[in-house]
Amino acid sequence: MTITTVGVVGCGLMGSGIAQTAAQSGFATIVTEVNQPMLDRGLARINDAWDAMRAKGKISEEDLSAARGRLRATLDVTEFRECDIAIEAVIEQKAEKIEIFQRLDGILTPGALLVSNTSSLPITDLASVTRRPEQVAGLHFFNPVPVMKLVEIVRALETSDETIAALQNFATALGKTSIIARDTAGFVVNFLLIPYLVAAIRMYEQGVATMEDIDTAMRLGTSYPMGPFALLDYVGLDTTLYAAEVIYAENPDPAYAPPALLRRMVAAGRLGRKSGKGFYDYSHQ
Ligand code: 3HC
Repeated sequence: MTITTVGVVGCGLMGSGIAQTAAQSGFATIVTEVNQPMLDRGLARINDAWDAMRAKGKISEEDLSAARGRLRATLDVTEFRECDIAIEAVIEQKAEKIEIFQRLDGILTPGALLVSNTSSLPITDLASVTRRPEQVAGLHFFNPVPVMKLVEIVRALETSDETIAALQNFATALGKTSIIARDTAGFVVNFLLIPYLVAAIRMYEQGVATMEDIDTAMRLGTSYPMGPFALLDYVGLDTTLYAAEVIYAENPDPAYAPPALLRRMVAAGRLGRKSGKGFYDYSHQ
């Protein structure tokens, strides 16, 4: 199948990055949100990123205006009937994702693909509420989406080979490298990344080193672009907690168990960069 029109549900950190990347890569792109203020915030994020790219000479005026022309924002999800693929990128709440999958299944044409950017929820659970389980898969992007080169394609129990092939071609057209993972909690990247982040929080709880020193150690000792606390704040503590809970439920090993401090910080609303404060304070940036 050929993908020409892309629909993105959710214009938060991930959804806006996916919509930006799709529009930049030549796809007619429709993005939706639950209300106008959230849609406006997501569009502002995309426009800021585009302005920065233009200022650095990374995109020409002509290409930028073409990309802007390909991006359409709407609060009316029925416009997704035009889409060859719908990408769900809303918050990590199973009930919400199930509802969106049921809704989109009724709107999309029978041949269209329906994928989720979930970082850890079972794709098979989402596929099972649709009448097109062969055309449902995971398509997991990484933050910041326009920069990170990887996409995980997640094969659920019923996903067809044609769907996997179409997603591989789509990922290539977005300028990404794809890998294929089975539908297990955390897929590949988060199954390895979450226990590392959890271990860093435990190390800090135990007073082994300051969080600044743990970050410096991993940046300079392993050339990671960010230390674990900077990365936790970047990814979002709520997203990390949710992923840890899902992975731990499927693998009840203490290495995956969310630390008490992570739970407390999420309860206190300290979610990282997006809330202005996480392990570090961003309120003056
Ligand atoms: N759109 C377009 N370009 C962007 C961008 C965006 N939204 N955000 C950053 N960039 C560009 C910058 O313009 C810059 O471009 P340049 O090199 O041409 O000038 C480049 O990316 C690097 O950005 P900065 O100079 O601002 O900052 P850094 O060099 O410190 O890089 C970073 C920032 C790319 C975020 C880097 O620190 C990094 O790679 N961090 C690790 C991120 C990571 O691990 N992400 C995965 C998290 S796990 C996940 O997402 C899965 C989920 O399920 C939990």
